[in-house]
Parts: sequence; structure tokens; C-alpha cells
Amino acid sequence: MLTTDPSPHQDEQAGTCAELVAGLRSTPPHLPYGLLWDEHNTALYDRIREQPEYYLNRLEMQLLRSHAPDIIATTGARMLLELGAGTGEKALPLLAHMNSPARYTPVDISNSAMSRLAARLCATSPDTVVRPVVADFTRPWPPALRSTEPGPLLATFLGSTLGNLLPTERRTLLERLAAALRPHDTLLLGVPLLHDPDTMVAAYRDAAGLMEAFYLHCLHILNRDHGTDFDLGGFAHHVTWAARESRVEIGLRALSDQRVLVPGRPTSHRVDLACGSVVRAVVAARFTARQLQGELSESGFETVHLLQEPSDRYALLLARRREGCPRGPYAVVREETASRFQG
Ligand SMILES: C[S@@+](CC[C@H](N)C(=O)[O-])C[C@H]1O[C@@H](n2cnc3c(N)ncnc32)[C@H](O)[C@@H]1O
Repeated sequence: MLTTDPSPHQDEQAGTCAELVAGLRSTPPHLPYGLLWDEHNTALYDRIREQPEYYLNRLEMQLLRSHAPDIIATTGARMLLELGAGTGEKALPLLAHMNSPARYTPVDISNSAMSRLAARLCATSPDTVVRPVVADFTRPWPPALRSTEPGPLLATFLGSTLGNLLPTERRTLLERLAAALRPHDTLLLGVPLLHDPDTMVAAYRDAAGLMEAFYLHCLHILNRDHGTDFDLGGFAHHVTWAARESRVEIGLRALSDQRVLVPGRPTSHRVDLACGSVVRAVVAARFTARQLQGELSESGFETVHLLQEPSDRYALLLARRREGCPRGPYAVVREETASRFQG
């Protein structure tokens, strides 16, 4: 443990650094997921989605394009709330079938993703009222995410992102959604289904090396934004199938013994990572339809439609809040409603 000079910057970073140290000292060591999405990685992810090995994106888009008319007709949605929206590409087929003017609230932790999405939609879909929110969906929800519009709302959580949350985080998020939605609102989840491990793992080892670049860049983000001193050449991309947890685990394997400084206030920390140890960057869970329906039910939802694509590798689930499930209170944590982006 080292003592460092206090500074306002360190003060702001204290929470993140504590989280980082706790993660790196856990068994197994891991990085906080929300820290991975800077402007560079957000742009890189757009290219990853197009890689031949990353079939999940294509399967989900196909399902959305085929079923968007039915989804909008069934839900009667007048407004779309998209969690982890990224480019907002997945919203387009849905918005196209909503009555004009469609109202769209994309939510993402990445400010650059929200800026680009808003600029693009303003240019290509001037009839859509876009109100992006930069927020962390793992934290208590800002009031901007609670619909005050009378018409039905469709909340979407696509791009397999549910699988990037640990089971307890999934439960918390789904419960929060169940508490936020009204009886006539609907939730649409896009989820990867369990299939053969080789194919599932290969999705994270593209020949172009973009996944590797994405995860190695995480260390650069930590050095640049959080003052760590990770040796950028000291780690390699690592992907494995964890059968017991039913998930792909993507991380960084130490190529030699590593000692990392995590600055903090009042104390900084050194974390040792032995050669060969793997720092998990993200989990990518794979589900069975039955398991998902169970998790939804335990969180206060009932599944109204299960839309599975023919290869059984991807599914969309449409769910409603179960009658009698209480609506919850809302706490503001971090909200930057980008009013300048209003369409
Ligand atoms: C796997 S990508 C999916 C993007 C998009 N939904 C799609 O299907 O292409 C995950 C997205 O969630 C965002 N994200 C990750 N963690 C988040 C968090 N804690 N709160 C809000 N957004 C988050 C990322 O910035 C990224 O845009």
C-alpha cells in the first residue's frame, strides 16, 4: 500500500479505484464492465458486429426485421426505451412500424455513442423524437427513464447485453425494469441461446483480431483515465467456455508476473498478477429459453412471446409486468439528459 499526494482528480476517482482494486484482488480477478466503453471501443464494437464470426448480431437483426411489425402491433408501442442502445441500429426496424412521430429514448453509458446516434437519427429520421440519456443501467434509474407518456412503452434490451451481467446484476436490472414498467408496457429482450461451445467461443476470436484489440484497449483506458500502469504488452486476449456458469468468459492473460499500481486517495494500491493468471473483462452468458422465462418470472415478468430463430442460437422474448408486481421508487444517481440532442 502506497501513500500518494491527494488531488481533486484522485478524489473523483476514489470510488472507481476502490472498485478496480476489489475486482483485481477477487478470485478470479476481473474488471468493471462499465469501464470498457470509451469512444474508441464504442467505434470498434460497430466493426466487431460486422465480423463473420460474430453471428449473434446478424441473427438478432434478422429476428427484429422479420418480427418488428408484429411486435409493434402486439405491444401498441408509442414510445421506445432502449437500454445499452449503442448505435441504435436495432431500434430502426421497430421505429419504422410505430405511428409517427415515434418517440425514442436510447440509454447508454457511452456519451460518444449517444452523440453519434442522435446526430444520425436527426439526419435520417427527422420525424422521430430522440431523447438520449447517458446513464449507467446498473445503477438506480434516473427519472428520465420513467415514462410519463400515456401511450404504451416498449423497453428493449438487445445485443446480448443481458448476458454481460452477472446473475445478481441481471436479477436487479430485471426487477428494476418490472418496477418501472406499467401494466400496458412491454419488455423486449434479445438473448443468445446455449449451443455448441466451439461456435460460441469463436465469436470472440475473430480472424481480424478486433475482439482482441477491444479487450487490450481496456488496459489503455485504465491507464489513461484511472492512472494505472498496466504493461500494455504484458497481456494477451483470452477466451474460454465456463460450462458450469454457462458463459463465455473473455479476459486478459498475464504473459509474465505483473505488478500494477492503482492510484487512490488517501492510499494507492499495488496488485500482483502472477504469470498465466487471467483478469476477466466480461462474461457473455448463454441461456436456455426455459431458464430465461424462469428468471423473468422471478423478477416480476411473464413471458408473452418467445421468438426463436431457426438455428436455435438466438431468441427475442417479449414480456409484461406480472399483475400485482409493485411499482418501485426511483432514485437519481447520474443523469445527463442531452437536451441539445432533442429531435
Ligand atoms: C454489447 S453492446 C450492444 C449495443 C447495441 N444494443 C447492439 O445491439 O448493437 C452493449 C452496449 O451497452 C452499453 N453499456 C455497457 N454497460 C452499460 C451500463 N452499465 N449502462 C449503460 N450502458 C451500458 C455499451 O456502451 C454498449 O453500447
